[in-house]
Amino acid sequence: MEKLVLNGGRELSGGVTISGSKNAALPMLCASLLTKEPVGLKNVPHLRDVTTMLTLLGQIGVEFSLSEQALVVLNSANVKSLFAPYDLVRTMRASILVLGPMLSRFGKARVSLPGGCAIGQRPVDQHIKGLQAMGAEIEIGNGYISAQCKKLKGAHLKMDMVSVTGTENLMMAATLAEGETIIENTAKEPEVVDLAHLLVKMGAKINGAGTDKIVIEGVKGLYGAEHSVMPDRIEAGTFLVATAMTQGAVDLYNADPRSLKAVLDGLRKAGADVEVRDGVISLRQNQQVKAVNVSTAPFPDFPTDMQAQFMALNSIAVGQAKIEETIFENRFMHVQELRRLGAKIRVRGNLAIVDGVKCLEAASVMATDLRASASLVLAGLVANGETIINRIYHLDRGYERIEEKLASLGASIKRSN
Ligand code: UD1
Repeated sequence: MEKLVLNGGRELSGGVTISGSKNAALPMLCASLLTKEPVGLKNVPHLRDVTTMLTLLGQIGVEFSLSEQALVVLNSANVKSLFAPYDLVRTMRASILVLGPMLSRFGKARVSLPGGCAIGQRPVDQHIKGLQAMGAEIEIGNGYISAQCKKLKGAHLKMDMVSVTGTENLMMAATLAEGETIIENTAKEPEVVDLAHLLVKMGAKINGAGTDKIVIEGVKGLYGAEHSVMPDRIEAGTFLVATAMTQGAVDLYNADPRSLKAVLDGLRKAGADVEVRDGVISLRQNQQVKAVNVSTAPFPDFPTDMQAQFMALNSIAVGQAKIEETIFENRFMHVQELRRLGAKIRVRGNLAIVDGVKCLEAASVMATDLRASASLVLAGLVANGETIINRIYHLDRGYERIEEKLASLGASIKRSN
């Protein structure tokens, strides 16, 4: 099994290009199911989750081609199987995003329940409730969601909690429904907005994406379109935290500062000098980072996908930080591994209290989920000695060539078997 070997203590410097967003690309790949015409997506990141989604879409009958320039062209003219099997869905929860489009265009879908996962229960009741309100008949049995309808009908939906993929699934389903759908309490995440941009290019009538109320006027059919996927704000945030922790100076190209406000605010509190000019985000850190309190919440507040990275930062900060996780009930698994590297962290329910230490000491650690793995890489960049991170397949789900990009900034990091 592959692992990463890091030697800590080198400051990062130089420039790095941020890849396309995983969480924007995944729903867009599924949106291709809504039309029989080709959909071209540029800036699609080369990641395991994208490969998993393409495998799933391929089994459904979507044809696709990949080119060097991160361009994926998908064609859903010959869909043959409206089925998403357990062995694929269980490896990636975002597979649920095929449900809304398949049901809306073909009137039928059978999709495995994602089940629990490492970071919590993560049910999909909001997806199901919304589709039922739009007239779908849904049965749950043997671990599968079986849904059918003659034609989805517009409805007034109020989501019980803010769900990113829930909003995306219902928004996609509503594009081909009969009449108007109003969705309230929607996620305002930039990835939802980017998906809406693609859908509008395909002919959908959508207003309000990026607010807590989205209105969709159903249309008879959608067309092919081309769209460039937004930059990955979590990858960008992770590189900025790495730079701050190593007291380096790095420029990020192709990053979107508007999607990163809460993260940039946090980094400034940690003492970083952050500048945004001509589309480049530059971060310079001249002293040991200062402790920063963090509380996760839906966009535009601090993202749960950056919580583990800020835990790593606070591990070596001057002072004490409180980190509150309000989105997922079990997202502190990195704490145990960070402690192996010498971090002083206490957990009380959904609150972690981090007392910064002067330096971390290298050890062998184990990645447990995607963002937890990122926090271990960050810790390894500053730990004294050789840190070995096992089970890095988690990292490959969401970070494109992370070791190459970090090495190009001066880190001592390599992949080994
Ligand atoms: C998405 C992101 C993930 C991010 C998360 C929160 C993608 C592919 N993944 O995941 O990286 O960490 O948003 O920003 O975009 N919930 C329910 N019922 C539902 C749906 C959600 O109870 O039907 C709960 C979840 O258990 C969780 C909270 O709502 O506690 C938010 O989850 P949600 O926004 O749906 O996360 P995902 O869309 O799966």
